[in-house]
Amino acid sequence: MLEHICEDVHGVRGSLRMATGVVFPLRSTVVRLPGGELLLHSPIRFSDAEASAIDALGPVRYVVAPNGFHHLYAGHALKRWPGAQLAKSPALVVKRPDLAATHVLGQGAPPWAATALEALPIEGAPAIGEFCFFHVPSGSLLLTDAAFNIAEPANLMSALVFRLGGTYKRFRQSRLFGMGIKDRAAAAASARRILERPIRRVIPCHGEVVAPPTDARAALEDAWAPMLR
Ligand SMILES: [Fe+2]
Repeated sequence: MLEHICEDVHGVRGSLRMATGVVFPLRSTVVRLPGGELLLHSPIRFSDAEASAIDALGPVRYVVAPNGFHHLYAGHALKRWPGAQLAKSPALVVKRPDLAATHVLGQGAPPWAATALEALPIEGAPAIGEFCFFHVPSGSLLLTDAAFNIAEPANLMSALVFRLGGTYKRFRQSRLFGMGIKDRAAAAASARRILERPIRRVIPCHGEVVAPPTDARAALEDAWAPMLR
């Protein structure tokens, strides 16, 4: 049901089938903050059983729509947990004005303890507007679309599309993300700032967690090679 990733960090897995037949594996990550309250990163469409399992971990206080594409189920999560505050990517300000947010990422300090969960932007790609999240206590970096790590595509169409994107069966940033970068120097500087964090684990929305014994920081540097050039 819930995927235990490490202390205070759980995943909930799902998938999204596009009209083209491409299937994206999905992960929403549930972070328990120091006060015990929960933050839902990139919520998926939780089943009742999954929502109950999340409730058992603690009270949901924050819902995060971390980039301009991961907003489809934020509204469902806010309906299920009406007391939660939404923090959304600046890319959603115009795209999803109906999603009322108490916090726009990057505009001042987040409403949670930033010493526990840092919101780190990838600048230079405004339509994507991705923020990565570094969970300081566990050294876990949460990615949305900044890199995929899909071990086994669900079908031939998915395999074809991931090959075209350069992410077939590997931990890699998609060429599509690269096409969204308008200021390469700014994006590279953002990536370098994130790589300075003591990253022990990478938790992508799309694919498998990268964790010890793999050197997750080195793997991320490699996955981000196109953005660092
Ligand atoms: Fe995505």
